[in-house]
This record gives sequence, structure tokens and C-alpha cells, in this order.
Amino acid sequence: MPWELHQATLIVHILLAIMWVGGILFIGWGVYPAVRNMNVVTQREILLRLMQWSHKYLTGAGAGVILTGILLGTVFGPISQWYDVIDTRYGNIWLTALIVGTLTLLWGVFVGYRQFCNVFSNVELWEQADSGDRKPLFKALINVALLESVEVAGFMTLLYLMVLL
Ligand code: HEM
Repeated sequence: MPWELHQATLIVHILLAIMWVGGILFIGWGVYPAVRNMNVVTQREILLRLMQWSHKYLTGAGAGVILTGILLGTVFGPISQWYDVIDTRYGNIWLTALIVGTLTLLWGVFVGYRQFCNVFSNVELWEQADSGDRKPLFKALINVALLESVEVAGFMTLLYLMVLL
């Protein structure tokens, strides 16, 4: 395969990874702290809308990272048979990245995002917090953050694997 095509795929891979990882991390360290001092009803509305809007793009970026990662390792890379995956250092790292990347994406879509929507769609919980009883909401948000941290651990593992490749 032409070198230019390999380079173009690598650029797309890195750009999509920036969107996927950077997008999710930015919501956590940039958007959430910025809206935390607003009243709880506004917070709920902004964060729910933001997540509902960005979810499809973040999922698409994650799927694109995995797809381009597969191409970079196989079509443009040294993996051409099952032996290369099982019996070479490159193949082992690539397979680990493929598994970690897929699990991270599935976790984000089916666990993290679902739990986020459950908590942020629960209007009663937010109204209760608005009227002074913040404890149940606080507990629910801690739960969301813990589930999201699994995704962050997946990102960190992937970054480490990319350095090893
Ligand atoms: C957090 C997600 C990811 C990030 C930030 C990321 C980042 C990168 C970066 C920066 C490179 C360039 C490395 C270099 O040229 O030395 C790269 C290359 C590559 N990535 Fe990823 N990547 C991610 C996920 C994945 C996944 C899930 C796979 C496997 C399906 C994968 C497979 C590859 C392959 C095969 C290469 C080419 C390595 C080579 O042969 O030089 N990446 N990635």
C-alpha cells in the first residue's frame, strides 16, 4: 500500500483519537466544573443536552479509531496472518489495543452513557437537590464518575500501548 495512504490513515487515526479521548476528558475537567456553580436544574439541562448531542460523535470517533487502528496494523502494517498476531511482540500489543479499545468503547456506550442518562433524566433527584437535599444526587453523581473512570483507565492503557507499538 502506498506510503501516503498509510500516513493519511495515521493522521485520521490520531485526529479521531484526539476527538474521542479529548472530548470525553474535556467534559469531565472543563465543562462539568464550569457549570457546577449554576443552579442544579440548569446544570442538569446543560449536561444532559451536551451528552445527548455529543454521544453519537464521540462513539463515531471511537469506532473510527478502532477501524483505522485495524488498518494500520494489518493493511498498512506488519500483520498479515494469525501467526503475526499471536507470536510477535507487535501483534500482541496490537491485539491488546484492539481488545482494550473495543471494551472501552462498549463500556462508554452501554454502561457509562446509560448511567449518565439515568441520573440526568431523573428530574425528581435534581428537584430534591434543588430544594436542599443534595445527598442522593451527590451519591448518584459519584457513581457516574466511578463508572466513567473505567473508560479513562481504558484510555490511559491505550496511550501506553501506542507508545509501546
Ligand atoms: C486512545 C486511543 C488511541 C490513541 C490516542 C492512539 C494514538 C496513536 C498514535 C499517536 C499513533 C502514532 C504512533 C507512532 O507513529 O509512533 C498510533 C499508531 C497506531 N495505532 Fe493507535 N491510538 C489509539 C487507539 C488504537 C487502537 C484501539 C488500535 C488498535 C485497533 C490502535 C492501533 C494503532 C496502530 C496499528 C498504529 C501504527 C503503529 C505503527 O505501526 O507505527 N490504536 N496510535
